[in-house]
Amino acid sequence: MSFAKTLSKRAGQIEVELAKLFAAGPAVSVPDRLRNAMQHALLAGGKRLRPFLVLESAALFNIPLEQAMPTACAIECVHCYSLVHDDLPSMDNDETRRGHPTVWKAYDDWTAILAGDALLTMAFELLAHPSCHPDPAVRADLTLLLSRAAGASGMVGGQALDLQWEKIDSDRTATADDITTLQAMKTGALIASACEMGAVLAQAPMPSRQNLRKYGEVLGAAFQIADDLLDAEGDAEITGKAVAKDKALGKATLVQMYGAERCRKMLDEMLDECRAALSDFGPAAQTLIAASEFVATRDR
Ligand code: IPE
Ligand code: IPE
Ligand code: MG
Ligand code: MG
Ligand code: MG
Repeated sequence: MSFAKTLSKRAGQIEVELAKLFAAGPAVSVPDRLRNAMQHALLAGGKRLRPFLVLESAALFNIPLEQAMPTACAIECVHCYSLVHDDLPSMDNDETRRGHPTVWKAYDDWTAILAGDALLTMAFELLAHPSCHPDPAVRADLTLLLSRAAGASGMVGGQALDLQWEKIDSDRTATADDITTLQAMKTGALIASACEMGAVLAQAPMPSRQNLRKYGEVLGAAFQIADDLLDAEGDAEITGKAVAKDKALGKATLVQMYGAERCRKMLDEMLDECRAALSDFGPAAQTLIAASEFVATRDR
């Protein structure tokens, strides 16, 4: 089976579990409008790469799918919230996401802000719940990991830099190191934490956990370069979101700085780094290696 097929099969299973959150889980008694907006954000497509990485990194340690699923759903809730807020008029001002109107466009600003808030909070409810893992120390470890990845020194901090450079410090010339740091925060942190979560769920020894983290950090950097390449060269029909915006807005990206060709070479080198980080796992890591190849060459 091609990796794209493997991912899409898992995405289907993940979406079934996400839908259950509204039927029996933490989102049962939610006011209608808020609930509809949350479902719009959470259930309308998406590659489901971050939850896939949780499930697949857990599988390296023979953790069954069902056991890793609450953690996988938690990280997708954080990711979807980040997209809802990223699309707001005061942030990237986007009207299309995953081939549908963005949440603020389908509803309004306040509904989108609150739907994002609710998804973020729900993620931590999922991690804190005993069904996430029987050992409270593991639940606390997962909570620490996700809160750091999502928060002010992670995704939110990266988003803050991204917007500050675009909207306030637009005269500032960002160096490649500046951009790499920004992207490691806004995108890399969540992806790296997804990869590390499998080791946490398995209470795996530190070297395995560090190798997965290293893989995740490189994968996250590659993921954002690929996203920026898609903005420069991709097809909005396929990506399901607007393209050709970064240059016009003066977003600081490596693609704007180096051009597409050099970035594709960087992606090749990153694939080698991903393989090296996973070498201790042997053939069991084949799917994670395929995931990195998918990330570097994706068209959506
Ligand atoms: C888009 O993430 C936002 C970035 C971090 C670049 P994805 O490309 O994973 O979006 P979905 O979840 O598949 O829609
Ligand atoms: C967003 O980066 C990263 C997030 C934390 C949501 P982008 O702003 O480039 O993501 P897209 O292109 O809108 O998906
Ligand atoms: Mg953005
Ligand atoms: Mg955006
Ligand atoms: Mg983008």
